[in-house]
Amino acid sequence: MSASYGKNWNPADHYRDDAVARNYDRQRFTSLSGRLFNSLEKRLIGKAFAGLAPGSVIGDAPCGTGRLAEVLLESGFSVVGVDISPQMLATARERLGRFGERFRTATYDAKTLASSGHRFDAALCARVLMHFPLSEQIAFLRGVAAVTDGRLVFTQGIDTGWHRVRRWLKRGLPIQRPAVYPLTRSDLRQLIEQAGLREIKRYRVLPVLSESLVIVTEPLPVKAAE
Ligand SMILES: C[S@@+](CC[C@H](N)C(=O)[O-])C[C@H]1O[C@@H](n2cnc3c(N)ncnc32)[C@H](O)[C@@H]1O
Repeated sequence: MSASYGKNWNPADHYRDDAVARNYDRQRFTSLSGRLFNSLEKRLIGKAFAGLAPGSVIGDAPCGTGRLAEVLLESGFSVVGVDISPQMLATARERLGRFGERFRTATYDAKTLASSGHRFDAALCARVLMHFPLSEQIAFLRGVAAVTDGRLVFTQGIDTGWHRVRRWLKRGLPIQRPAVYPLTRSDLRQLIEQAGLREIKRYRVLPVLSESLVIVTEPLPVKAAE
């Protein structure tokens, strides 16, 4: 990833590029730490959806190159990969063609996905919220929450004193910068509440070493009219 990766960087545009899409997995997940993170995160995504009825349809928004959709398909679910980037979805279709009709794609902005008419038994929203300030994270997660009455699993980075020190130490290294907008604990509570969700469970991808969390939520119960 180039030096332009930072706050002046728009994730809705950046991935609409063939070369970016082709190189996405290789650039992030082939180093030793990348492979470790990838395999731990995939294991947790598998756990986060455990217990869902076989054959359930999961909306993966954003799907990117289908990295995590693959885990869900291997677990016996069907997946609709949603992304704003046709290039990322083309890479996902190449990767996941062996699953036939169980994997489909839809090019949409996740924030307005409800207007597409899609509904899912559950949804995944991974590795994207961190790119936006909190208000946009809320809008994004609300958009995904609007298309399911079931479980919604998302990933985010947590901002603690320790992780700020780690980010500061890594500043000069020629590696991809960490989460651009990680959240404090209270921001995270706000994100979940304002997206109309409640937390059921959370997993840490690599306790102490990584700021990444996998958070399992469900819709807040609708209050009965008084
Ligand atoms: C870092 S990739 C993560 C993909 C995948 N979830 C994963 O974990 O590998 C972020 C993706 O978000 C997509 N994206 C950015 N803004 C979006 C939006 N508003 N609606 C849908 N997808 C969006 C990008 O096109 C890109 O494919």
